[in-house]
Formats: sequence, structure tokens, C-alpha cells
Amino acid sequence: MKILITGGCGFIGSNIAIFLKKRLKKANIFTLDNLIRKGSKLNKDRLMKNSIRNYKIDIINQKKILQLKKFDLIIDCCAEPAIEVSRKNPDIVFNTNLIGTYNILKKCLKDNSDLIFLSSSRVYSIANLKKIKKNFNFKKRINIKEKINENFETTLPSSLYGFTKLASEKLIKEIFFNRKMKFLINRFGVVAGPWQFGKQDQGFVPLWVARHLLKKKLSYIGFGGHGNQVRDIIHVDDLCEIIFKQIKNFNKIKNITFNIGGGEKNSISLKDLTLKCRKISGNKIKISRVSKTSEYDIPYYVTDNKKIKKYYDWQPKKNVDQTVKDIYQWLIKNKKVKKFFK
Ligand SMILES: NC(=O)c1ccc[n+]([C@@H]2O[C@H](COP(=O)([O-])OP(=O)(O)OC[C@H]3O[C@@H](n4cnc5c(N)ncnc54)[C@H](O)[C@@H]3O)[C@@H](O)[C@H]2O)c1
Repeated sequence: MKILITGGCGFIGSNIAIFLKKRLKKANIFTLDNLIRKGSKLNKDRLMKNSIRNYKIDIINQKKILQLKKFDLIIDCCAEPAIEVSRKNPDIVFNTNLIGTYNILKKCLKDNSDLIFLSSSRVYSIANLKKIKKNFNFKKRINIKEKINENFETTLPSSLYGFTKLASEKLIKEIFFNRKMKFLINRFGVVAGPWQFGKQDQGFVPLWVARHLLKKKLSYIGFGGHGNQVRDIIHVDDLCEIIFKQIKNFNKIKNITFNIGGGEKNSISLKDLTLKCRKISGNKIKISRVSKTSEYDIPYYVTDNKKIKKYYDWQPKKNVDQTVKDIYQWLIKNKKVKKFFK
């Protein structure tokens, strides 16, 4: 079995590539990545050590993609994943996330390849997600239990990022309609773990851990600057495990959309994440408050994992403490990665 992972030198793509290399002994794994993301070159080195070849191609270069060898399965992890880039650089988001998907679909059509697409919880309507806030007191950090399933409202706006993900999902369904190739769409919430070169607007968990370790500043941004916004966090190892299960069961379970995340047990506010980072690092750092909220930001997101659990008997194994610990140890062990968080 030949597998191509696009965005394969990114955080999620590189972790999936190495995981599958170890678990699918007979598979040949390749990646496609133009190395634009900071840290992606270090991930490429990891791939090379695991005998995984990267094609340095821009996802918008359809001609070069169509010239690649035939793959049985493409796992599409290529995107500009930062929500805030939606406003500052819409061309990048639109081209990479939507034209890129189209090019991958053309490649799937040419070779009859199956597709696993990494979509996002950000396909859901910002207005509807904000309504959950009604039950949410930002100063008192009230724990709410509402979870988001696959039927949650997707009315726009959801950010250009969310739009390109939803449009990609629709394109996949349109193009794969009535064909023999199979697809799966996974809408992930916040994913975290080692080899994630996180920044304030994308990948906040490693940023939080690293800044505590390095004794650098952080800010609580938005919703009054209290740090009470809540997300559920899935460890990248749990993500890899479910992708593995999906590949193994692809003949039986196909052409479906799933929400996948850490779930209620692994949901946490920024403020509580700070406490965990203080504990593991032994450092208390200055965290400033920026009360103004980006119109793309949401106060709360917790995944309803009921559907994915039902289909695959899967649930996340690693809790937030474990995720923080794994990231901390990764930072301690790898001198080269610390500079990305300064
Ligand atoms: N990290 C999360 O919390 C999260 C949550 C939900 C969904 N996702 C989705 O998962 C996928 C992977 O996310 P990630 O966190 O690993 O992001 P990432 O930025 O670490 O990885 C994306 C990779 O794509 C590459 N890339 C970007 N533009 C490219 C282009 N034009 N041509 C070729 N390569 C290009 C980058 O160099 C990078 O290595 C994305 O589709 C993202 O939308 C991520």
C-alpha cells in the first residue's frame, strides 16, 4: 500500500507518517510539503531518519502533483491552519486550503485513490458557538457541559479558514459521488503534542508549555483577558491511533464525517492550563490581559465524540496532564526546538 501524506512535514502530518511507518509494516509512506511552516524542516529530518521521503512541492502546483506516482491512499493534512491569517492573507488560505484540496482530488480521481481529509471544528458557525456563551460566566469559570456534534450549525461566517475547510468537504463529496474511491472527513478540535511549533493563534498548548519553561511572557487574549475560554485537547498520539483504525476499517466504514477531539474529560480553560504549566516547569511567568476579542474567536468548544466512539470503539487515552508532560519532555530533550518559542 502506498500512502501520501500532504502537509506531511507539519505537526500532525509528520506524526501520522512516523506512526503509520511503524504500525503498517507493509506500507510505503511518502509526504508532500513545501516546508513553509516554521519547524517543518526539523520534521522533515525526523521523516528522513525514518526513511520517509518528502516531495517538496507546493500544493497549488497541480501539474507536479499529477506527475507523482500512484498512491492507494492520500491523507490530506496540508493547510494554512491559523484562523487569523484568514483576514491578513486570504489568498494563502484560499489557495492552500481550497485549491490545494481540489488538486489532491484531481490526483485521487486520476489514480482511484482513497482519501482521508483533516477538517476542523472551525467549520461550525461562530454565531451559534457564541450562543453557548450565554451559559458561560467568564469571570467565574462556570463549567458547562454542552458538546458539539456533527449536526451543529455550519452557517457562515466561520472564518475564511472554516469556510475553506467546509468548502473542501463539500468538494470531496461532490467529486467522490458515485465513484468507487472511498473518503473520510475528520473534523478535529484542538490537537496538541510534541513536534508542534505552536504560536499564539495556532497551537497554543506547546506555546504555553514552552513559554513557562523559558520564563517568557504570554497573554490572555479576548473575552475580557481572563483566560477563561475553554477547549478540549486531543493528544496527537490519539489522533494517529484513530487514523490507523480508519485505514484498517476503510472497506467497512467509509464516506462519513466525524467530529473528533479530546472530549469533555480533556477540556480545559487557558487559566487552568497555566496552572498545569506552572506545576510542571516550576516557573510562574507574567501573563498580560488583552480584553478585546477577535471576531473569529470562540469562547468554548468541546467535542462530542459519540459518533466516532460508536463506529470504531475509540476514545482518547491521553489526558491533558499527559499531553503537557509529553510536550515538556520534548522541549527539554530537543535543544533545537526551543528557539521557535522565544
Ligand atoms: N493542529 C490542530 O489543532 C488542528 C485542528 C483541526 C484541524 N487541523 C488540520 O490538520 C491539518 C494539519 O494541521 P497541523 O497542525 O499539522 O498544521 P501544520 O501547519 O503544522 O502543518 C501543515 C503543513 O502544510 C505545509 N504547507 C502549508 N502550505 C503548503 C503549500 N502551499 N504547499 C505544500 N505544503 C504546505 C506546511 O509547511 C506544514 O508543514 C490541517 O489541515 C489543519 O487544518 C489541525
